[in-house]
Amino acid sequence: MATPCPVRHIAFIMDGNGRWAKKRGMPREYGHREGAKAFQRVVEYCGEIGIAYVTVYAFSTENWKRPEHEVKAIMQLFTEYMSEAFRVFAEKGLRIRFIGNRDRFDADFVAEMEKLERDSAGNEKVLNVAFNYGGREEILQAACRVQKQGKELTEENISAALYTAPCPEPDLIVRTGGEMRISNFLLWQSAYAELYFTDTLWPDMREKDVDAAVAAFRKRNRRYGGV
Ligand code: FPP
Repeated sequence: MATPCPVRHIAFIMDGNGRWAKKRGMPREYGHREGAKAFQRVVEYCGEIGIAYVTVYAFSTENWKRPEHEVKAIMQLFTEYMSEAFRVFAEKGLRIRFIGNRDRFDADFVAEMEKLERDSAGNEKVLNVAFNYGGREEILQAACRVQKQGKELTEENISAALYTAPCPEPDLIVRTGGEMRISNFLLWQSAYAELYFTDTLWPDMREKDVDAAVAAFRKRNRRYGGV
């Protein structure tokens, strides 16, 4: 019998779409489209190997600084995925949650997000899609919420007010594309996460690359500050 996957929660910084497209003489938007296919492939595979929580960084609060046509293309892709891939995932047993700030999206878009969340709320496995997400913004809004509720500012109360609550913290954060930084992703939740960096560009990400990240995780010695 295969050993159970030791990773309960995996998170991905899906980097390298633009470079992947450039290498092929194609526009960046093409890289995002292929990146979205990789996203489907990877999320599906994580479920197959028994990972209960997957979080992906799809659009950051800083990504609005990109050229307008690129932002538009990502929004268009996302809209398509709302009625296609996300819905299929929901039907296949994933609970879809959108994490991030929704203030910049129009009402119809938010309504679609909420519908998907409602329709999939009974599913056990979780897919968190970070969209217009920033780790600092998340911590700030959590602190404000705690204060508004008249509660004490404790680590426990802040954790419970994060967008990702009540998901456990990620065990493993994978960043593709060769950069070694966290880029404002899951800042609070990554306190004890293992980090894995690979040069693979996101659109090239396949099952074997997930296996390699999990294999590296198996070799880590997690001490949580202890000895
Ligand atoms: C980073 O690559 C990628 C993004 C900012 C967008 C991520 C979006 C996707 C992978 C598509 C997922 C879509 C859905 C529907 C979930 P980059 O553009 O920064 O690449 P570069 O570093 O090579 O320029």
